[in-house]
Amino acid sequence: MTLILGLESSCDETAAALVDSERRVLAHRVAGQEAEHRPFGGVVPEIAARAHVDRLAPIVEGVLADAGVTLADIDAVAATAGPGLIGGVMVGLVTGKALAHAANRPLIAVNHLEGHALSPRLADETLEFPYLLLLVSGGHCQLLLVRGVGDYRRLATTIDDAAGEAFDKTAKLLGLGYPGGPAVERVAREGNPRAVPLPRPLIGSAEPHFSFAGLKSAVARAAASGEHSVPDLAASFQQAVVDCLVDRSRIALAACPDATAFVVAGGVAANGTIRTALTGLAARFDKTFVAPPLWLCTDNGAMIAWAGAERFAAGLTDPLDTAARPRWPLDPEAEAVRGAGVKA
Ligand code: KG4
Ligand code: ZN
Repeated sequence: MTLILGLESSCDETAAALVDSERRVLAHRVAGQEAEHRPFGGVVPEIAARAHVDRLAPIVEGVLADAGVTLADIDAVAATAGPGLIGGVMVGLVTGKALAHAANRPLIAVNHLEGHALSPRLADETLEFPYLLLLVSGGHCQLLLVRGVGDYRRLATTIDDAAGEAFDKTAKLLGLGYPGGPAVERVAREGNPRAVPLPRPLIGSAEPHFSFAGLKSAVARAAASGEHSVPDLAASFQQAVVDCLVDRSRIALAACPDATAFVVAGGVAANGTIRTALTGLAARFDKTFVAPPLWLCTDNGAMIAWAGAERFAAGLTDPLDTAARPRWPLDPEAEAVRGAGVKA
């Protein structure tokens, strides 16, 4: 049994957790920064980095106290080393290096996307490689065949905005505030998902890539027309995203008959309507559907600790001079897709 401390600070959540190789989450704490960023309608990188500096040390002390352990009880320190907002990533990685050095334990530099990709295995011990993963977060929208720890094949990515980004921008233009995803989902419950005609970008194309920028612009035009209620706009937008995610995932599922399961992860996977639609899709392909619990979908320290545990078990540790990386694709072999270099 090994015990891993995980640190996460790549976006606007400061988080730490203690997870062991038996999948027990001994402690986890997350501090959001919604109040700091709300006046700006989105995450301000410099404000985020400063908030991580203030919060990370007390959060680490907190999880150690919650679990009743000390640094000496830990086998390795895992920290997000990218991709993400570089100031925040550096705060977490430097903290991880200092703790690893002080405790004389190895450092594990974790790719944040690998944290999301392996988090379903923390929640479900029966989930075996290879599985098809729909990774939908604020910065990414990808379909990946997860073949093993550190072994990913990217089947598709977004050619412009990520799914969560589309939720956030739509929320902003509908005046629903930040963070956008949960706000859109809440308001959409009161609306008619068929009320506003909106495009389904790339539906029907043979490759399972995504595009959401045109959808967001169409919502902006529909909102400006003054003909629709905010709940109808939110519900119709959400339905368009659902239809795109289902159609694109369908192509990927057809291309991966050997996948043991269809898995969704990342912040957007917290959306109930999306989860329900993907459950139905998996059933059509006779695949097990796995979605981590909501707290494990949005950014957290446990997914980083668990990815650390998986890497540690595979003998993968990193030197203390490991650099923070603003971009870090999970599949370095994946072809660049038009416009996607910015995100993936
Ligand atoms: O994985 P995550 O916490 O951070 C990134 O790595 O990006 O994902 C955050 C994204 C945000 O864009 C947020 O609006 C979206 O996930 N999100 C949701 C919901 N909860 C969070 N999108 C739709 N519905 C939700 N319930
Ligand atoms: Zn994330």
